This record gives sequence, C-alpha cells and structure tokens, in this order.
Amino acid sequence: MITNAHPKIKGLELSENLPDAEVEALWGNITWLRPKDHVAKLRHFISFEFALTRLLAGWVPACPSYEWKTQIPQRLFEDMQHICRLRERLRELPGGTAEISSNPALAKFFAAIGAADSLESFLSAFYFEIKRDLLQAYQEYRDLCDPIFDAPTIYMLEGIIQEKQRQLDWATNLLQHVKFNPELFAVVSRWRDYVRQCITRIGGVANMKPAWNEKALPRSPVDTPAGPAPEKPKQDPRFKLLDRFPLNKQEDPFYATLKDIIFQNATEWQVIDPMCYIFYGVRNMPLDFFIDFSRHIWDECRHALMGLRRLRELGYDIKDFHWPHYGTRLEALEDYFAELTMVGEACSFTRKKGSIVPFLRFGDPHSAMLPEIDCVDERLHVRFGRRWLPVMFKNNKRDERPLEVLSETTRLRLAQDWTQFEGLSEEEREKIARSFAGFCMTIEFALDFTVYG
Ligand SMILES: [Fe+2]
Ligand SMILES: [Fe+2]
Repeated sequence: MITNAHPKIKGLELSENLPDAEVEALWGNITWLRPKDHVAKLRHFISFEFALTRLLAGWVPACPSYEWKTQIPQRLFEDMQHICRLRERLRELPGGTAEISSNPALAKFFAAIGAADSLESFLSAFYFEIKRDLLQAYQEYRDLCDPIFDAPTIYMLEGIIQEKQRQLDWATNLLQHVKFNPELFAVVSRWRDYVRQCITRIGGVANMKPAWNEKALPRSPVDTPAGPAPEKPKQDPRFKLLDRFPLNKQEDPFYATLKDIIFQNATEWQVIDPMCYIFYGVRNMPLDFFIDFSRHIWDECRHALMGLRRLRELGYDIKDFHWPHYGTRLEALEDYFAELTMVGEACSFTRKKGSIVPFLRFGDPHSAMLPEIDCVDERLHVRFGRRWLPVMFKNNKRDERPLEVLSETTRLRLAQDWTQFEGLSEEEREKIARSFAGFCMTIEFALDFTVYG
C-alpha cells in the first residue's frame, strides 16, 4: 500500500526507502556503465597513474644521459595532465570529489616494479609492459562507453589515448639501442619478464580490486637496484662538474659578462635531480601540488635546453664550461623547495629581466628571448612556491608559520652557510637576511652588462 504518495504523480512515493541492495537487484545485469562504475574506474586510474609518476620521477636522478634527464620530466608533466583530466571528469560524478588515496594493496607491487637494475630495464618495463597495458585499458574503457551517455568521458579518454601512444613511440625511439646490445637486451628482458609476472599477480593494471597475496610476488632478479632515488645522482660524463658556480674565464668563458645569463640558463639542469627527489619522496601533499610541480620541473628542463641550444648557436659546447651540480641525494626536501622558490627563483628577476635591453642593444634579440621567456616561467614558479611552501611545512614538519616567516627563516639559514656572507658578523648577516632585497643583492652574481662576452 502506498502510504506517502505524490499528490499528482501516481505511483511515485515521496519517501521511498528501498534498500540499496534491492535497487541494485532491480537494475539487473546491464552492460552500460553507470556513474558509480565510472567513479570506481576513474579513481583507480588516477591512483595507479600517480604511483607510476612518482616512480618515474625517482628514476630521473639515476639517469646518466643529459638528453634523457631533460626529456623524461615532460613525460611526467603529461602524465600529471592525464591525471588532471581524469579527475576533472571524476569530479562531475556523484561522490567524485572525495579524497583519492593510493590503494594499499598495490604498495608492494609499485615498490617491486620500481627496483630495477638499470634505467634501461626500468624504462623498458615501465613503458612496454605497464604503460602499454594501461593504454589498452583506456582503450577498453572507451569501448565500453556509450557514445551518447558517456560522450564527455569518451572525449577525455580519446585525448589521453593519443598522448599515451605518442609516449610509447618516444620510449621506443629512446630505447632502440637495447635490442642491438645482446648483453643489455638479456638483462632488460629478464627484468621485463619479472614485471610481467608482477602484473599478472595483481590481475592486470585495470584490476580495481586486486585480491592477491603480496607474499606471492615473484622473487626479484635484481639484488642491488639502481633506483628509484639513488644515493648518488648520475650525471652525463660530458659535463665537468663543480660544487659551486664558476669563478673565472677558464671555468666559464662568459664569466661576469652579459652572455653569462645564457650560461646560467644552461646550468639549470642541476635542479632537475633535486626536484625529482622531492617529487618522489615528499609525503602528505595534495595532488594539485604534484600537478604544479611537474610543470615546474619540466620548465627547468626547458630553461636548461634553451640555454645549451643558444650556447651551441654561439659556437660553444658542454666541454667549454664547468657546471655547478649537487652530488648527493637530497634529504632536506622541504628546505630545498624553500631555497629554490623563495631565494633562487625569487632573487633571479633583477638580473634576468635587466639583461633583455642590453642584449637588444648589442643587436642580439635571439639571446634576449631567453630571459624574456624565463621570467614568465619563473613568475609562475614563485607563485607555486608561495602556494605550496606553507602546505609542505605544515603537513610534513608541523610548522604552521606563514609564508613570509618561512622565507625569512630560509634566508637566515643561508646567510650562515653561503660564501657571499663570509667575513660578516652575526648581526650583519641577520640584518641582511631579514630584508628580501638586501639578501638578494648580497647573493647576486657580479656581472658587467656593458660587456657582451
Ligand atoms: Fe628556471
Ligand atoms: Fe624556475
């Protein structure tokens, strides 16, 4: 008997309390994907992709090739953009705004597939076992979609599928040499077999409820993994390394001149490893931080690339310079992020922006383009720093001090360590560090923009 019937619509109960299970039974076995099915799938892919991006970042410091080191972060950025699009669609669905957490059942799986013997092994399995399976999973997901009900999801998936395919083509190109080196090929194949077994054990990359026993993971063929996050970052042997910036014309032919601005851009590959240690290692940060940070890392690669390209156009090459570089694994992740954004980047505008007109006056608009572009990116990075630094300190160091205090503390700390402050008393150091402008002036490079270089 209908007790609470709608006054005008016959058969509609106003407070129908049919248990969920009964409603589900009424739906029966349909093949359309319902919103809740999409929510489950999207959440799974986001969490799976995110775990993979962190592994990929962790392997960048293990990468000895300059070209690879400056290219991989673009893949990282693209993957974070895919996550962004998946999340955008997810948020449109009921229950889609809830926090996305990693699947604890997969933690051992990701640890296992990350611990490869070499970068070639890691990347080969990463792209040709895992990412290829993921691409297929996205294609299958798209094929399950109804062309009208799910059109926005199809549109989103189509874009991701195309880009994932391009990533696979890139990886194929990058790893060509493996198949022509029998020894390397054997080692890489052994690792790929192992990763394949791990994938089978979790029931495939698209399996949302992996019912597996982690003890049943196959035994890894690798005793001493080369990554992720190696203790000592690897560098391209073509670079002559210093633990500081050059101090004379022998170390840097453009030393103290206008063209040093170009070299400074070219040196920016030195921040890629520390930033990737942060991407891999930092905890308790929201997804949006990693989306911004992937862009930040990619931009630094672009700055390094545009600097080296211009040096080459001017007739120089890697071998003509000595390059500043950090030789160990970054441990103080939060402090480095503060130094990078609140000091390194925030203090760089005066000389970079100021170099544009001198370059133009020397009739070199091509070189002027570098600081022109650099300043646009750096403004974005300082904004990222201002947004995320307080969150990083609060979530990981229980330090709730506001941004301005964190910045000042960073300057005070550096005024104790950096050589530019040598010979100054404690009071003088503190006085300089308390002023942003005074601090930036003290650490500024001594340059002469009246000399082209
Ligand atoms: Fe930069
Ligand atoms: Fe930057």
